[in-house]
Amino acid sequence: MFLDLFMRKTSMVCIDVGYRNIKVVEVSVKKNNNIFIENYGIVATPEDCIKNGAIYDVERVLRVIKTVIKEEGMKAKNAKIIMSGTNIITRIYMIDKAEGESEDFTIKNSMPNFLPVDIDNYRVDYKLLTTVRDKNQEKYKVFVTAVPRKILESYIEVLQGLDLKPLAVDIPANSTAKFFNRDIYTKDMDEYYSKRKHKNVQSDTYAVLDFGSETTIVNFLKDRVLEFNKVILSGSSNIDNHISNEMSITLQEAERIKKMYGMNPPNSLSKREHVIAYGKVNTFIERLVTQIVKCFEFYIERCYGSQISKIFIIGGGSQLNGLDQYLFSIFNVPVYPVGLLSLKGVELRKNLDREKLNYLINSVGISL
Ligand SMILES: Nc1ncnc2c1ncn2[C@@H]1O[C@H](COP(=O)(O)OP(=O)(O)OP(=O)(O)O)[C@@H](O)[C@H]1O
Ligand SMILES: [Mg+2]
Repeated sequence: MFLDLFMRKTSMVCIDVGYRNIKVVEVSVKKNNNIFIENYGIVATPEDCIKNGAIYDVERVLRVIKTVIKEEGMKAKNAKIIMSGTNIITRIYMIDKAEGESEDFTIKNSMPNFLPVDIDNYRVDYKLLTTVRDKNQEKYKVFVTAVPRKILESYIEVLQGLDLKPLAVDIPANSTAKFFNRDIYTKDMDEYYSKRKHKNVQSDTYAVLDFGSETTIVNFLKDRVLEFNKVILSGSSNIDNHISNEMSITLQEAERIKKMYGMNPPNSLSKREHVIAYGKVNTFIERLVTQIVKCFEFYIERCYGSQISKIFIIGGGSQLNGLDQYLFSIFNVPVYPVGLLSLKGVELRKNLDREKLNYLINSVGISL
């Protein structure tokens, strides 16, 4: 009985509605924040259901989610959902401290001056990261998120239609950060990197890159706290489009070719499809990584950030053949595909396929 009380768990269904796939995960969180994945299902998002980050067709999305819950025999009574990253604003601001005013008052009142949007249409939240002194002025360093109310409402509607107790709507940046707010053991892969020359950066600043279908999300965490987040509006499905156009084949066929060859270089005996895939995949990834490099530079130069010592990659697109090694060659720090790591405090029920874990980081992260 004592043990039971001590280890008591909260169970919930966590939902991540991506442009391509909806992930539904039944998670139990133990008191010590250990996670137990009871069950999960990954299904294709019905076509044209999300636009600009909002759920356009709530009914169809609900139907798909309910089917997964039923088919996988999920029994949890609570639910959380995660929004698409598109159109969410996340920024770091330095705000002057004002004598005689509360921190909350100063920060909230400064928002209309900082945020480049009509603030009445947004739900704004902030987190105070630190207070710094710049010359003679104390400043709050705050992490601000602003979500369009209209978009938020579409997710609330889904949550309310589930016949479960709605607990929260969260944004991907937060769920990723919550997931990575734990000891991540990289031992399994460190032997590999110990044999390769790389920068030895002594910092607790990590990058987590989410390679989705329509979006690529760049997160930087310093001492496990999120300090930077940017959603790049381009993702793995763009590669399918390029291959499909070039070869006049269906998107499904193009996707299959992308998955098969990835960034692997062809040789003189390779098929034409391999040569084309290689060209299209590499051009796309090089462009995408140029944008990611800009985020690294921006973070260091403009956000008072520190050098990144490790990169974790998540999302379906992170499985692209050769992507981790390409990133390693560009950034020169160890790159860890999360699906390959053994994560302390994250257990899966026996018989569940661990390989899919890289799809589930966000949905599992919101459970915390
Ligand atoms: N082995 C693989 N190699 C390359 N790409 C892959 C592989 N497996 C899956 N993908 C790609 O991963 C993408 C789907 O990933 P994911 O489910 O994380 O996207 P999503 O969350 O729906 O999208 P978004 O985050 O942009 O809303 C698809 O574009 C798919 O082609
Ligand atoms: Mg996603």
